[in-house]
Amino acid sequence: RSCRSRVEFERRDRSTPVDTPVGARTIAFARAHSNIALVKYWGKRDETLNIPAVGSISITLDALSTGTRVTFDPGLDANLRQDEFWLNGQLTQAHRVSGLLDLVRERAGLTMRAVVTSTNDFPTGAGLASSASGFAALALAASAAAGLTLSTRELSMLARRGSGSAARSIFGGYVEMHTGTREDGRDAFAEPLLDAAAWPLCVVVAITDHAAKTVSSTHGMAGSRASSPFYPAWVDTGEQDLAEMRAAIVGRDFPRLGELAERSCLKLHALMLTSRPPLIYWNAGTVAAMHTVRELRDSGIPAYFTIDAGPQVKALCDPGDAAVVALALAETPGVLETRTSALGRGAHLVAA
Ligand code: DP6
Repeated sequence: RSCRSRVEFERRDRSTPVDTPVGARTIAFARAHSNIALVKYWGKRDETLNIPAVGSISITLDALSTGTRVTFDPGLDANLRQDEFWLNGQLTQAHRVSGLLDLVRERAGLTMRAVVTSTNDFPTGAGLASSASGFAALALAASAAAGLTLSTRELSMLARRGSGSAARSIFGGYVEMHTGTREDGRDAFAEPLLDAAAWPLCVVVAITDHAAKTVSSTHGMAGSRASSPFYPAWVDTGEQDLAEMRAAIVGRDFPRLGELAERSCLKLHALMLTSRPPLIYWNAGTVAAMHTVRELRDSGIPAYFTIDAGPQVKALCDPGDAAVVALALAETPGVLETRTSALGRGAHLVAA
């Protein structure tokens, strides 16, 4: 299992951004990578504009990406009442996708419907988050197909409207998402903190359940905000966590980064467990994998875990330790498979 980054290779990738328009039809194809938060986002200060209540810090993952093609076609209007969305080869509910496309249409002055074809390069249904890579790729492909040239900041805010974590996937490497203070959300965007190549890090994902999660993040975080007695403390301590994580990244202090990531993860899950109804995303394999990571640490291998709104465990480690971490996790009862990733690049256009 390799933990080599494709960043160097992809820097040399010279691709055609937007395909030649055929008549009034316009096509663009974009790829974006997933990310995992080291300081978590959970809870919104505005649900309509999808503005997070606290900032977050993430790393973009090379091994998990979504490729999305958007075709705006005037010929579709007569036949379609809404956009057509194909996810991994299957016609899928287009509601959230259409919501984002509406923002793009409004901005570009378009009325055309679109066909969106989206494919994940990681096992489908493995319970691995795809909304971050999915909405980041969609924001870029849709705006390019509509003829808009948006700055990365604008793209990040557009992706945020689809999914909060997607705002971070516009960028590669180490990324910070700001909650901002403005009511219109114009200061709630992500920004790069550090290049992937500047501090290579590895993530080993331990998959403990192949089924899709039962409670979506959107739904779960609304419940936590409304019902957990820990929610005010979560929001109050967010800024301090971000400051400490920024310092760990600037100082390339891996044990500090790892401890902070575990703390933010456990704090998030305490919030989930104390919500009504309680959100229990862990299974026995999740807990066993957490212990494996701690045992690795006790035996002198610096590895730290983080877990999102699902049962998979992501272990952070040095690229040189990735093979031994992956082996220890693969041997853990309840771990079905592992997947190793280096840090990845931001969302980019490729030939349609
Ligand atoms: C636990 O970005 O999926 O992964 O904005 O409602 O689409 P919406 O939520 P989403 O939430 C991600 C939650 C998390 C933590 C994180 O990625 O920061």
